[in-house]
Amino acid sequence: MTEGLGSAMGEGAFGRSDAEIDLLVRGKRSGIAVVGFGYIGTVLGAVLADRGWPVTGIDVKQTVVDEINLGKTTVPEPRLNELVANNVRVGRLCATTDFGVIADNDFVIVTVGTPLGPDFEPIVDDIKAAARAVGEHLHKGHLVSGGTARRPAVRG
Ligand SMILES: NC(=O)c1ccc[n+]([C@@H]2O[C@H](COP(=O)([O-])OP(=O)(O)OC[C@H]3O[C@@H](n4cnc5c(N)ncnc54)[C@H](O)[C@@H]3O)[C@@H](O)[C@H]2O)c1
Repeated sequence: MTEGLGSAMGEGAFGRSDAEIDLLVRGKRSGIAVVGFGYIGTVLGAVLADRGWPVTGIDVKQTVVDEINLGKTTVPEPRLNELVANNVRVGRLCATTDFGVIADNDFVIVTVGTPLGPDFEPIVDDIKAAARAVGEHLHKGHLVSGGTARRPAVRG
C-alpha cells in the first residue's frame, strides 16, 4: 500500500518533480488522516506521527479506534506499541470513526484492506465504501493517496 506514499517521497508523484511536490505540500501541515487503521495504516500512521505529523486514524471498527486512543495496538510489529503509546500520549496520534475529521486534514492516505476472494481477485467493497466516505469531506487542495496490493500478473 505504501506505493502511493513511497513514490510521492522517492520518485515524485503523478509525474511531478521533487521540487514541484515540495511546493505542493509546503504550508500544508494541518495533519494527515489515515483511513483504515489496520496493519498498514497503524504502522504508517505511527511512523508519520513519530516524525512530527499530527495523525488521525479513521476506522469503521470502534474497537480499533478505542485501542489506539488508549495508546495500544495489536499489530505485531517490533516497537510499534511503543511508537503508538508515545505518540498518543503527546497528542500527535489519535483515532476516530468520524470521517468528518478529513475536513481538518490536508492529507488523506487510504489503507483499507482488499482481501482476496476465492478467485484470487481482490474484494474492493471496503475500498469503495471508504472512497465514498472520504469523497463526502474533500475540499479543494486536499491531497489523497492510496494503494492496494494486487495479485502478481504473469505473462506467458
Ligand atoms: N499487510 C501487508 O503486509 C500489506 C502489504 C502490502 C500491501 N498491503 C495492502 O494495504 C492495504 C491494507 O492492508 P492491511 O493489511 O493493513 O489490511 P487490514 O485488514 O489489516 O486493515 C484494514 C483496516 O481497514 C478498516 N476498514 C474496512 N473498511 C473500512 C472503511 N470503509 N473505512 C475505514 N476503514 C475501513 C478495517 O476495519 C481494518 O482495520 C490492502 O490494500 C493491502 O492489500 C498490505
